[in-house]
Amino acid sequence: MDNLDTLVAQATADFAAAVEPAKLEEAKARYLGKEGALTVLLKGLGKLPPEEKKSAGAAINIAKQAVEAALAARREALRLAQLEAQLAAEALDVTLPGRGQTRGALHPVTRSLERIEQLFRSIGFEVADGPEIEGDWHNFTALNTPEKHPARSMHDTFYLLDAQGRVQEDVLLRTHTSPVQIRYMQAHVAQYGHLDAMPEIRVIAPGRVYRVDSDATHSPMFHQVEGLWVGENVSFADLKGVIGDFLRRFFESDDLKVRFRPSFFPFTEPSAEIDVAFMSGPLEGRWLEIAGCGMVHPNVLRFGGIDPEKYTGFAFGMGPDRLTMLRYGINDLRLFFEGDLRFLSQFR
Ligand code: FA5
Ligand code: MG
Repeated sequence: MDNLDTLVAQATADFAAAVEPAKLEEAKARYLGKEGALTVLLKGLGKLPPEEKKSAGAAINIAKQAVEAALAARREALRLAQLEAQLAAEALDVTLPGRGQTRGALHPVTRSLERIEQLFRSIGFEVADGPEIEGDWHNFTALNTPEKHPARSMHDTFYLLDAQGRVQEDVLLRTHTSPVQIRYMQAHVAQYGHLDAMPEIRVIAPGRVYRVDSDATHSPMFHQVEGLWVGENVSFADLKGVIGDFLRRFFESDDLKVRFRPSFFPFTEPSAEIDVAFMSGPLEGRWLEIAGCGMVHPNVLRFGGIDPEKYTGFAFGMGPDRLTMLRYGINDLRLFFEGDLRFLSQFR
C-alpha cells in the first residue's frame, strides 16, 4: 500500500501549494472529485478478488480520510490567512488625531427663533407652544372664522386621513400659530379665574405651521411666532410700539423701513399686515410681508374665556422664515428647507 501513502503525501503537498481557495478546490478535484485518484481506486475495488477486497477497501478509506483531513486543515489555514490579511489592510488606529473636523451650527431659522424668544422675554413675554395637529375648533371656529371661509378648504389646509384613508374634517395640520391664543387664554383663565386682578397675558408661541403653498416666499411647512398681549387698556398704539421696537432690535437698525398696511383677519379688528423692506441682497428696497396683526376680536376673547367688556388685547402672527430672508438678503425661502449644506454652511 506504499502507493496510497505516496498519494496522501502528494495530495497534502498539492493542498499546501494552493495559495487561494479556488486553487485548493481544483486540487481537491484531482483526488476526491468524480475522476479523482481516490475515487477511481474505490471504483476499481469491484474488480478485485473477494479475499483482497476488504483489506484494500479499508486501506483506501483510511487514505481518503487522511486526504479529507488535509483538505479541511488547508481550508481553515487559508480562511485564517485571508482574515489576517483583511485585518491588516483595514487596520484602524483609533489613537490617531481626526482629519479636520467641521463645526456644526444652528440652522439660520433656528437662530432667528432663538433671537425672537430672547427679545420678547426681555420685555416680559412668556414662551408657550401648542400642538401641530389641531382640531377645526381651535384652528378656525374659536378664531371667529366663518364656516365657508376659503382657508378651511382643502386647497389651503392639510387635513389628516383616518385609517380607511378618508379625510377627517376635524383633524388638520395647524395653518397658523393662532390656535395657541385660545389654548393659552383658556389655561390662563383656568389658573387665575376671571378675577378683577387677572394678571395680564403676555405670551409668544413659536412653532411650525403648514399650508398648501409653495413659491419663493411660501413654503408648505414654515414657522410662525404668535404674539398675544391681553390686559386692561391695551391699544393699537401698544401693538405698534412693541412690534417697532422688536424689529429695530432684531435687525439692529434704527432706520429700518417698516409699514403697517390695513388688512383683514376674522380674529382681529382692526387688522393690519406688517411689511419690512430688504436692506441688502438682490431684493434691496423691496417690501416683504412679515406678519399679520390687529386688536383681538371680542368673539375670540369670549372663546378664550375672557370678558371683552373689561379687557382688550392685540395679537400678531409673524413669519420668522421671512425675517431670516430679510436679515441675510435671501430671495427664496425654500432654500432654508432643502438641507443643502453648501447653502446652510454660509450662516455658521
Ligand atoms: C396669519 O396666519 C394670521 N394668523 C396672523 C395673525 C395672528 C393676524 C394674530 C392677526 C392676529 P398670514 O396668513 O398673513 O396671517 O401669515 C402670517 C405671516 O406668516 C405672513 O406675514 C408671513 O410672514 C408668514 N407666512 C404665511 N404663509 C407663509 C408660507 N407659506 N411660508 C412662509 N411664511 C409664510
Ligand atoms: Mg398675510
